[in-house]
Amino acid sequence: MHFIFSPQRALAKEELRRTDFTTASDWQGFLLAYHRPCGSDSPKGANKGNALTTGDRGTRFSPDTISPVPDLLAVENLRVEFASPQGVVCAVREVSFCIAAREVLGLVGESGSGKSVTSMAMLRLLPPQARVSGSIHFEGNDLLRLPEPAMRGIRGSGIAMIFQEPMTALNPVMRVGDQVAEAVLAHQRDGKSSKRMTKQVAGERAVEALRTVAIPDAERRARDYPYQLSGGQRQRVMIAMAIVNRPRLLIADEPTTALDVTIQAEVLELLNELREKFALAMLFISHDLAVVSQVSDRVAVMYAGNLVEMGRAEQVFHNPMHPYTRGLLKAVPNLHSDRSQPLRTIEGTVPPLTALPPGCLFEPRCGWRVERCAEALPPLVEVAPDHVARCPVIQLEHH
Ligand SMILES: Nc1ncnc2c1ncn2[C@@H]1O[C@H](COP(=O)(O)OP(=O)(O)OP(=O)(O)O)[C@@H](O)[C@H]1O
Ligand code: SF4
Ligand SMILES: [Mg+2]
Repeated sequence: MHFIFSPQRALAKEELRRTDFTTASDWQGFLLAYHRPCGSDSPKGANKGNALTTGDRGTRFSPDTISPVPDLLAVENLRVEFASPQGVVCAVREVSFCIAAREVLGLVGESGSGKSVTSMAMLRLLPPQARVSGSIHFEGNDLLRLPEPAMRGIRGSGIAMIFQEPMTALNPVMRVGDQVAEAVLAHQRDGKSSKRMTKQVAGERAVEALRTVAIPDAERRARDYPYQLSGGQRQRVMIAMAIVNRPRLLIADEPTTALDVTIQAEVLELLNELREKFALAMLFISHDLAVVSQVSDRVAVMYAGNLVEMGRAEQVFHNPMHPYTRGLLKAVPNLHSDRSQPLRTIEGTVPPLTALPPGCLFEPRCGWRVERCAEALPPLVEVAPDHVARCPVIQLEHH
């Protein structure tokens, strides 16, 4: 990939050594000056004209630059903070992404990186002490500003969620069919429809949903309690509850993590089938890159509450740009891994979310760091069409 010609690159490196990057906009100014499509002749020329226009390489990322089709969901500049006895926990910051209709965006990152908090913010299910800012547009409505009754109408029928642990998400003392039927009735109560659905009709819809997720003998199993079902079947019940009201967007938060590998593969296959059948878009959350690669059209990588890279799945997996993504991918074992060697890990730890450093959050662990990296948080910039990363240094190296 070519972002900077050699003479420009030398100039850029020199500039990188000289400039004081005390704010994110300093990074941005640097990138705007030096990153631009090949073919223009003056490195400063990129500052002329409309350098922030969509599709110009090296321009600052905005959700519009990455999705070619109208978006079902657009999250912009999401920030979530929690007050805690240790201080303010900044769980999510500067997170922006889009999901188009029928598209699957995989969200990966290690434990505590803010994946679940991001998804809970989308459904406004965070506890009251959470301070949330930014915007989350779904089908034209900013969910962060919708009145609660309208939001209840979105949950379940517009956006539905599958949780990681079906055993804790399901009510242990209620028959599974009744739980799915309850989701149907709740949607009726919160929706605008004046027609009241009977419990019997809701029960029939529930059995039909259980059939859709391939629970064998659905009519009989609907009368079972969660403990009578296997882990894989319980997860199928959760999926039935999520799709029974025909949502347009499904958030699947680690939907296969608690399952063994063969059941995991079956559930992934089911999700892929449902996606086709119901034209579903999905936010698929997992710390497991192999799982994410099986279902996602695009992939977003989170680190310490920040998005550090996002692009089409094949770009992120085959041409990762951010050092953190590279480290994650190197840590995944494959069939060719030498089993006599210990698995690679990324050395060091994530910075505490109560005391985030001013610069790049990955800096203490990064093999590519330069002095400036610690000074200001780099912005997300477009490194290739549909591919953004939050690391100006690696972009300079990658020419
Ligand atoms: N209610 C809360 N109060 C304070 N901190 C919280 C709260 N909820 C989440 N956090 C913190 O926010 C950070 C992000 O949490 P989150 O659950 O989103 O991580 P995650 O990426 O989903 O991790 P995992 O892969 O383990 O599910 C964590 O450090 C967590 O401790
Ligand atoms: S090179 Fe610098 S900006 Fe890039 S990830 Fe490493 S520390 Fe962060
Ligand atoms: Mg989580």
